[in-house]
Amino acid sequence: MKMAELQVLHFEAAAIALSPAELAAAGGLQQAWVIATCQRVVVATVGREARTQIIERLPAAARAQAFSGAEAYAFLLRFACGLESRLAGETEVFGQIKESWRTFSAAPSLLSRQFNGWVQRLFKDTKEVRAGQLSGLGSTSYGSQVRRLLGAPTQGPTLLVGAGELAQTVAPWLDTHELLLWNRTPERALELQRLVQRRNANRVCSVLESSEQAELAAWSMAGHVVLCVPPDAARDAGRIGAWQSRPRQGGRIVHLGLCQSTSAHWAGVPALTDLTALFDMLRVQSDQRSAQLARARRACAEKAVLRSVGSDAAAAQRWEDLAAFATISS
Ligand SMILES: NC(=O)c1ccc[n+]([C@@H]2O[C@H](COP(=O)([O-])OP(=O)(O)OC[C@H]3O[C@@H](n4cnc5c(N)ncnc54)[C@H](OP(=O)(O)O)[C@@H]3O)[C@@H](O)[C@H]2O)c1
Repeated sequence: MKMAELQVLHFEAAAIALSPAELAAAGGLQQAWVIATCQRVVVATVGREARTQIIERLPAAARAQAFSGAEAYAFLLRFACGLESRLAGETEVFGQIKESWRTFSAAPSLLSRQFNGWVQRLFKDTKEVRAGQLSGLGSTSYGSQVRRLLGAPTQGPTLLVGAGELAQTVAPWLDTHELLLWNRTPERALELQRLVQRRNANRVCSVLESSEQAELAAWSMAGHVVLCVPPDAARDAGRIGAWQSRPRQGGRIVHLGLCQSTSAHWAGVPALTDLTALFDMLRVQSDQRSAQLARARRACAEKAVLRSVGSDAAAAQRWEDLAAFATISS
């Protein structure tokens, strides 16, 4: 497959939300690799005909950002390097893309064979940009930001609610003398406990019963609470009540499943940082950090053009590839 055939559609979650049925339609007929994260859905396919067919069965695609050829590769590279993320330079997205590829390529198809070489190059280039342009950027994982927000360990244990993908990346960063894990599905909390203790055998880390009562009891004695679950209209008032009734006040709630606009329950709760506030804090970036991110974006564009030369030397001379370079490197 030549790079010129690569087609990418980008749905930013804030602008175009896709339902599960639409997501299935996007990847239908084994015509596309669909990568869904909490901030965006990226649909990659081969050839304009396949792209047109996806747009026909998924009307929302007409409003998606579309890239092809070197521009599409550069977009995928920025995406994998965390340069498209609101937390610019974050590292978790690369794990999500690798996991998505592992699942997609586990069922062999013509498309996975066509993509394979390009995906391996994408992963190699991502590692090179991270090592070359993004090293020393300062830690930009959700976990490191949460640790910074919580500051010095407070009295009382830290309660982590949730045991999904995000909780797994955040838990090892929670620098507390005691960590309590609560999750709706206890097996996942036990898995998370094993992960935490593999990283730090001395960490006191307990899994709570999955009942609502056990969760609320932990809220009423916690020093800090970190939530990695979506808001829950039926449970949130109880959580806030238990937090506010603690005999010893202080501490902080960091709710990574919550955006300001999505829940009235949490409005006005003191010492709460939601995802929107976390992104706002990060927007205040140092000049050095911005310059480093700009260099990394440029490196993504340059690598895309170099890869397009490797893939098809004649095509690389074409006007649209040069124009793509001008667009993406500016
Ligand atoms: N992944 C990221 O990079 C990222 C970044 C920023 C924000 N977020 C947000 O963080 C939250 C968790 O994301 P994730 O990536 O960890 O998702 P995930 O891997 O699917 O895990 C979801 C977590 O939320 C729990 N959960 C879901 N619905 C629930 C409900 N109705 N009641 C109780 N628990 C429920 C799940 O419990 P079970 O184990 O019982 O299913 C699990 O612990 C989401 O709101 C997401 O938008 C994620």
